[in-house]
Amino acid sequence: MLLRLLLTLLFFITTAYAAKVPAGAFRDGVKEYLKNGEFSAEFRQVMRSAELKYAFRSNVEKLDDDTICFLCDELLDVLLDEIRGGSVTIDELEDVVMQLCTSLFFEDEEVCHGAISSNIGIIWYIAQARPDKPASEICGIIGQSYGCAGTPDDWSVDIPEGTTELNKGVISGESTLKILHLTDFHYDPLYEGDSLGNCDLPVCCTAGTSASDASDAAGYWGDYRDCDTPMYAIQDALEHIVGQHPDIDYVYYSGDVIHHRVWNTSIDANKRDFTLMYDEMYSVFGNTPVYGALGNHEPHPLNAFAPPEIEDEDLSTQWLYDEAADVWSGWLDSDATNTVRYGGFYTVSPTPGFRIITLNSNVAYTINWWLLYDDVDPYGQLQWLADTLYEAEQNGEKVHIISHIPSSDSTMYTVWSREYRRIIERFAGTISAAFNGHTHRDQLILYHSSEDTNIPINIAWNGGSITTYSDKNPNYKIYEVDPESYEVVDYEVWTYNITSANLTPDQAPSWYKLYSFKEAYGLSGAAPEDVRELASNMAADRSVAEKYFEYSVRDADTSLQYGCDSSCLKTLLCNLLKSEYSDETQCLLMSAEW
Ligand SMILES: *[C@@H]1O[C@H](CO)[C@@H](O)[C@H](O)[C@H]1NC(C)=O
Ligand SMILES: *[C@@H]1O[C@H](CO)[C@@H](O)[C@H](O)[C@H]1NC(C)=O
Ligand SMILES: [Zn+2]
Ligand SMILES: [Zn+2]
Repeated sequence: MLLRLLLTLLFFITTAYAAKVPAGAFRDGVKEYLKNGEFSAEFRQVMRSAELKYAFRSNVEKLDDDTICFLCDELLDVLLDEIRGGSVTIDELEDVVMQLCTSLFFEDEEVCHGAISSNIGIIWYIAQARPDKPASEICGIIGQSYGCAGTPDDWSVDIPEGTTELNKGVISGESTLKILHLTDFHYDPLYEGDSLGNCDLPVCCTAGTSASDASDAAGYWGDYRDCDTPMYAIQDALEHIVGQHPDIDYVYYSGDVIHHRVWNTSIDANKRDFTLMYDEMYSVFGNTPVYGALGNHEPHPLNAFAPPEIEDEDLSTQWLYDEAADVWSGWLDSDATNTVRYGGFYTVSPTPGFRIITLNSNVAYTINWWLLYDDVDPYGQLQWLADTLYEAEQNGEKVHIISHIPSSDSTMYTVWSREYRRIIERFAGTISAAFNGHTHRDQLILYHSSEDTNIPINIAWNGGSITTYSDKNPNYKIYEVDPESYEVVDYEVWTYNITSANLTPDQAPSWYKLYSFKEAYGLSGAAPEDVRELASNMAADRSVAEKYFEYSVRDADTSLQYGCDSSCLKTLLCNLLKSEYSDETQCLLMSAEW
């Protein structure tokens, strides 16, 4: 049973770990497994020392792209054969995958069990429901960011015709609006100061663990290692914000309230934490509206956003959409709660002439398994976006878009990314700004015209994160927004130093203004033209790119210590200029001169 799967997997492990696992020991271990169905103690030891688990954690990329694509194709091919051939039951499959996961030390038993049991039902269902989808096509989607070859279905959104007048950074002279951008709390109910900060799991700083010496101990206010955010740190941030900025007009929250303990999620716990986080914001901000977007960490299992026709309760995402519709309903009208209930997205007009569109961009995340079931404009959301923008244009409204994952991210499904940019370009003059999260970095994306590559047309601002995960200081942003054009005129970033806050656990952290955009970069505004000037300054002068890097991590001590070398800085510049996943045009046109 599943012999081919097992052998294929073992083959890859040898390929990937040839240097770390002695071939003889490996061969003997496999032979023994095939004979007895168990791995010997020696073999386990050898595998443990290979630290295979770190190869599969996103922050440590040890496998090269070709190996990953090869591994994906071959392994999936065998796996799909087994599932589709009816030679194995779902329980048998789960047992074998579980045994491989733990015996070969991909991850600890707790992590293997949580990850496998919550995902296997979805994979099983899709493999059966899409019997003709070959492994290579699937790997082309889930392995997109590794360059795995695939032939994505092609589809396009029907965009209403018309022309748009570009944003010019017009300042009406009226006093500006203040918009608070908060994102990526990643609230961890199990966080505990002084617990073990460098454990072996994907997330540490967990109640019930303990550190043997001070350098291993988790900080009280947060930790640069792989740790999320305790409740009191979130409350401190919110209290500081309302005390420091009593005149905020709107609050945008761009997703990810749930922790990175991804093997330990459940529908009930996620619902509880989701509601708790928004209730905290509502109680602190009172009558100031809070507009939230869903993050990829909100569902259980994480990343899985099922299409509306999936009604099976074990697979459906309906519970999350219902919860979000209920929790957000205080700030939404009934049309908006209806679309949230349908697919987690909505539009509202808080005041005449101004419209907010909140997207559920997670549907196009390449590791949302449901993209393999149907990747054609999930929920019809992009078509809805184009139609909604057209209506806003007809009504002379200005629009802000809030959306968790930046549209050009390497994990955004390439067709979705392309169609999204087409929509942005068509309605560039109606969209005054967009706001993203997910990367935990303070960064931005500049969109250019596809017809004239010298013309910048739109900006998406990333909020950074409240979580320190990983090597970040917590932060939030305050935008000054023109009350007529709704364009961003300038913004400030506030943060605190985790190292120094943890020296005095019984005192609230000292938040300070890290920088103001215009002043820090010597720009006269925050319009697309100004951001283009920033990009060309970065390309001309390495120290400007370094400044952008330091701000992106909010001067976090460990990140400053690791630094960002030339190729890292060039990637930051290219990511700023890249507005569609598979389009490198601007990166090539404005490359670094240093
Ligand atoms: C998550 O972890 C907590 C604490 O270890 C445990 O009580 C709970 O049952 C776990 N939940 C899931 C869904 O694994
Ligand atoms: C953060 O605080 C620590 C402790 O006070 C200090 O050593 C460090 O230099 C500070 N980091 C920055 C970037 O200022
Ligand atoms: Zn996040
Ligand atoms: Zn995210």
